[in-house]
Amino acid sequence: PEVITVQELANRMAERGADVIKQLMRLGVMATINQSIDADTAELVVQEFGHRLKRVAESDVEIGLEGEVDVDENLEPRAPVVTVMGHVDHGKTSLLDALRSTDVAAGEAGGITQHIGAYQVKLGSGQKITFLDTPGHEAFTAMRARGAKVTDIVVLVVAADDGIMPQTVEAIRHARAAGVPMVVAINKIDKPDANPNKVRQNLLQHEVVVEELGGEVQAIEVSAKSRIGLDKLEEAILLQAEILELRANPNREAAGVVIEAKLDRGRGPVATVLVQKGTLKVGDIFVAGSEWGKVRALLNDRGDQQTEAGPAVPVEVLGLTGTPSAGDDFQVVDSEARAREVTAFRQRRTKEQRAVGTARVSLEQMFSKI
Ligand code: GTP
Ligand code: MG
Repeated sequence: PEVITVQELANRMAERGADVIKQLMRLGVMATINQSIDADTAELVVQEFGHRLKRVAESDVEIGLEGEVDVDENLEPRAPVVTVMGHVDHGKTSLLDALRSTDVAAGEAGGITQHIGAYQVKLGSGQKITFLDTPGHEAFTAMRARGAKVTDIVVLVVAADDGIMPQTVEAIRHARAAGVPMVVAINKIDKPDANPNKVRQNLLQHEVVVEELGGEVQAIEVSAKSRIGLDKLEEAILLQAEILELRANPNREAAGVVIEAKLDRGRGPVATVLVQKGTLKVGDIFVAGSEWGKVRALLNDRGDQQTEAGPAVPVEVLGLTGTPSAGDDFQVVDSEARAREVTAFRQRRTKEQRAVGTARVSLEQMFSKI
C-alpha cells in the first residue's frame, strides 16, 4: 500500500523533492512529487540519502534524521566512548591493560591485535570511560575507520622511541574525517631512546598542535609498562569529555552499533554491541543489520552476566538467530513479527543490490569485449 507522498518524504528528510524523484528513478520508480509510494520504496530512498527510518506501523513511515536527539529533558550524562588508535606495536593494548589492570596483550596471537576490543573502565572517582581498542596493523584500515566513527574522543598512541609512523598518520586522518577530538598519549617514555619532544614537534607536520607548542591538543607522556602518567591520561580524557557534554536518554528502547560479531562454537552467534542510547535488557527483541534476536544473556567485558546495559556500555549479546556484520546498526523493536519483517526486507534488499552489482560487472565485461 502507498503510505507517503514524494513531497512529504522529501519534507521529512529535509531534502529537495527533485532529488527524491531522481533517487526514485535510479531505483526504477517513476513518480511525481504528489504521488504516493509504498513503505519499502520509501525505506530504500531514505537509506540512499543516508537518513534513518523508523516505521511506526506497516501503514505509516516515520523518518528520523541521522543523529536525531531525544528531547533535552530526557537526557542524562553518559560515559565518554574513547577509541585508542595508533601504529602497530606502539602499545595501545598494553596501555588499556594498564588502565584496566588486565593482560589482554599477552594473550594475543603474535602480539598483534586483530579485532576491536571494547572495555569499560571505572575510575577511582567512580567515573567511567568506555574504551575501544583498535588494531594498528596496516591491514585493518576499515576497523580503524569504524572505530573512529562511533567514538567521542580518539586517543592517539605514539611510541616515543619510534615516533610518527604511517598508521599514526592514518589514525589522525580518521579522527579528522569523523570530526572527533584527539588526545595524544606519548607512550614508552620508560625507554632510554624515548624522545617525546620529537613526537610533539613532528605532529606539527600533520597539523596536530599540542598544548606545549601553543595548540589545543593535550599530549600526555605515559608508560604502559612502568605505569607512568596513567592518571594524567585519564584526567585529560575526562577534561575533553567534559567539554563535549555527553548525554543520552537511558529510558527508551536501546539503539547502538555492532562493534564485532562472530559465530561461537558453543554459544552460537555472538555480537559485541555498543549501546548508544536507551537501555538494553535481557528478553529484548532486536534487529542487528540483517539479523535479529531475543537477548538471552548480556555479558560485560570481563565475562560477567548483566541484566541490562545503558548508554556507552559495551556488551556481548547472546540470542541472535544469525551473525550480523561489524558496523551494523542495532535497534530494539517491539515484537518478533516486526524484527522478522525488518530483517526479511533488509536481506531482500541486500540480495537485490548484489544482483545489480553482478549485472553491472557483466555489462562492463561485455563492453570490454567489444
Ligand atoms: P597492535 O594492536 O598490534 O597495533 O599493537 P599495540 O599497539 O596494541 O601494542 P601492544 O600493546 O601489543 O605492545 C607492543 C609491544 O610494546 C609489546 O611488546 C609491549 O610489551 C611493548 N610496550 C607497550 N607499552 C610499552 C611501554 O610503555 N614501554 C615499553 N618499554 N614497552 C611497551
Ligand atoms: Mg593491540
